[in-house]
Amino acid sequence: VKHLLGIRDLQRQDIELIFQTADSFKEVLQRPIKKVPTLRDTTIVNVFFENSTRTRISFELAEKRLGADVVNFSASGSSVSKGETLIDTVNNILSMKVDMVVMRHSATGAPHFLSKHIDVPIVNAGDGINEHPTQALLDSFSIREKLGKVEGKKIAICGDIMHSRVALSNIYCLRKQGAEVTVVGPPTLIPKYLEKALDVNVTYNMREALEWCDVANVLRIQLERQNTPLFSSLREYSLAYGVNKKLLDSLNKEIVVMHPGPINRGVELSSDAADSKQSIILHQVENGVAIRMAVLYLLAGKSPNITLSSGN
Ligand code: CP
Repeated sequence: VKHLLGIRDLQRQDIELIFQTADSFKEVLQRPIKKVPTLRDTTIVNVFFENSTRTRISFELAEKRLGADVVNFSASGSSVSKGETLIDTVNNILSMKVDMVVMRHSATGAPHFLSKHIDVPIVNAGDGINEHPTQALLDSFSIREKLGKVEGKKIAICGDIMHSRVALSNIYCLRKQGAEVTVVGPPTLIPKYLEKALDVNVTYNMREALEWCDVANVLRIQLERQNTPLFSSLREYSLAYGVNKKLLDSLNKEIVVMHPGPINRGVELSSDAADSKQSIILHQVENGVAIRMAVLYLLAGKSPNITLSSGN
């Protein structure tokens, strides 16, 4: 059984295969009838133990555009509140003839753990502070669409790197494609091991990072993952690390602005920057559907070339 648990497990050619497949689905999504019957024999469950707007709707749309039957599960309102375990929950759903699982969980490694206990493909829709692989794929796909390619481009990943699964998946995805990566944020929000372990540049100076980059991927502060705040106040964070239009206009070139959402407007990103013509934030969201269609299609075994992670 093949899964998509993280970008760390992928080869560059896997990423390219996903992008080529997503190109085809993006073309389908421009048609008046935005559907193909490719997965009409497949039932997919979206198992969300953590809140989501974009990822959850995007997966559901991707599944429906592929003709799959779709079931949605939220931990809130379920028998998880009565003490049912993750494995029991998923196995009970699978016994109703479900063929594939998309899962978001607040625990790092939850989909990897589950992959040892079930025999259908799992797509990780975000696990704790570990990975969010389809977000990184749609981010790189959007850079490729905007700038023509990812290789050789300079990408600044800005803000709360420590608690961000988007940051880690993006670092893996971008480095595998030959992009240069700088992470920028307060020292308290950047893990010390990153520079050597993942071959990225580290700076604590936002202007320096923005002057250097072609693309700034601005991240949300993950307050829900910090027991005690790792900076003095949101206002001070915003003054030192917030991206706004005045700062963008003062740079020596026009950079592309990205954000995975949800945005804390006025904290890490001002409205005038988020809504500017430099922003591709809503294109990222749009591309998420084609990317997720590609991942589901490939994991369902519809391509002979599929080489996504084995989950071992
Ligand atoms: N980017 C992202 O994962 O957003 P959601 O939490 O709304 O799914």
